[in-house]
Amino acid sequence: MKKINYQFEYLKYDNLSELDTERKNLVEKSMEAAQNAYVPYSHFHVGAAVLLDNGEIITGNNQENASYPVGTCAERTLLSYVHANFPGNKKLILAISVPDTDKDVSPCGLCRQTLLEYENIQGQSIEIILHNKSGSVLIIPSASALLPLHFDSEMLS
Ligand code: THU
Repeated sequence: MKKINYQFEYLKYDNLSELDTERKNLVEKSMEAAQNAYVPYSHFHVGAAVLLDNGEIITGNNQENASYPVGTCAERTLLSYVHANFPGNKKLILAISVPDTDKDVSPCGLCRQTLLEYENIQGQSIEIILHNKSGSVLIIPSASALLPLHFDSEMLS
């Protein structure tokens, strides 16, 4: 028997203004997108914006439904749309904003798995930026960092 340790590093900024222009702009787009979230049940707005390798920024938000499980998170609403319409483009940086809470929040398990699939097929990390109402920002280097020991993880072999 041996113990195996898993660690990853991420960055925490106290304020959005500390980011470079490209990342700050992406976060601002995700904040705007959160305003169009359809959230009559949770009243919890989530906005997402992704920077593609062609320079385009595409946005999305959470879309709820009277039949609750039908609702989709902002990340998956956006990622499905982007992969449907820009299948040949890499997703470089994904910003997620939650303007209704001062707490740091991070993608749910379903969204992590979805992100991982797209990260794997493009063969390049997707950086994830998390931003909340307090202005705090977390930068996570990749989707795989958020989902260790996933189904086809190389860490298992
Ligand atoms: N939500 C997201 O959009 N992304 C996540 O990663 C977790 C949760 C949404 C789902 C629901 O519309 C609302 O936040 C409250 O859970």
